[in-house]
Amino acid sequence: MISRPSRRVSMVEAHGLSPEQKKAFDDNGYLVLPNFFPPKDAQILRDRAAVLLKEMDLDSHPRTKFSTGETSAHVGDDYFLSSGDKVRFFFEEDAFDKDGNLLVDKTRAINKIGHGLHELEPAFKAFSSRPEVQGVVRSLGYKDPRILQSMMIFKQPKIGGKVPPHQDSTFLYTQPLSATGLWFALEDCNPENGCMYFAPGSHKRVPVHKRFVRKEGGGTDFVNLDNKEVSLPSEDEYVCEPTPVGTLVLIHGSVLHESTANRSDKSRWIYTFHIIDGAADYPADNWLQTPGKPFTKAL
Ligand code: FE2
Repeated sequence: MISRPSRRVSMVEAHGLSPEQKKAFDDNGYLVLPNFFPPKDAQILRDRAAVLLKEMDLDSHPRTKFSTGETSAHVGDDYFLSSGDKVRFFFEEDAFDKDGNLLVDKTRAINKIGHGLHELEPAFKAFSSRPEVQGVVRSLGYKDPRILQSMMIFKQPKIGGKVPPHQDSTFLYTQPLSATGLWFALEDCNPENGCMYFAPGSHKRVPVHKRFVRKEGGGTDFVNLDNKEVSLPSEDEYVCEPTPVGTLVLIHGSVLHESTANRSDKSRWIYTFHIIDGAADYPADNWLQTPGKPFTKAL
């Protein structure tokens, strides 16, 4: 009898996670599922993203850059804060020289597109509700699963920025916590072009200790939460997870993870969206708001 590899999901399987996969996700705070979708479907998303990059109007763009780092002031602008229900473009930090001139072609300068692809772009909408995805979402046990936001992340050749260690629930905060990331490799991701690193089990021992909010009067800030002392994982606790095209990585909202810079000649395109529970409280001062529009039902 041939047994199926324990961490794999058939391309046509729509029944969600096996008990073994669910346990691995609960234990580690993330789960790598290679061969989750066929490379041709990655190509569909890449093709559409390439058109979006090509059609982006540079002249009318406020040249917003994006970073998950805590010291960047640029994230406080309106272009970012009103992007929850739009298709907007955020530059790599190293895309410009000190005088603000682009160093590379615009199609190789964007760090990410966000945050309403799952709602506004038909190819991304269809991908986000494919049966295998819904099977996985069903396995997670949400009362009312909602897609909160979505992104294409490009990690461009040579200038792709690193993402420092963080917990997604800092940025996608609910009470109680409920965020889960679904992260899809649209190209091969490896240590050379900036793959993901996780601190296994950190979701169980490191409480979410800050959240990213809109400040009264404009801009954004990190607010510390009332938790006891937090001991962050050391750098050597992070595990590198190379992900071939077609891989889904499930990411618990509290697990510490990071990705390295891309100094290689190859891009590292991924699509990701996050689920929260519509039954949880979504604070009015969370950075991401879609006024008048409920978050998209995931099922
Ligand atoms: Fe993240």
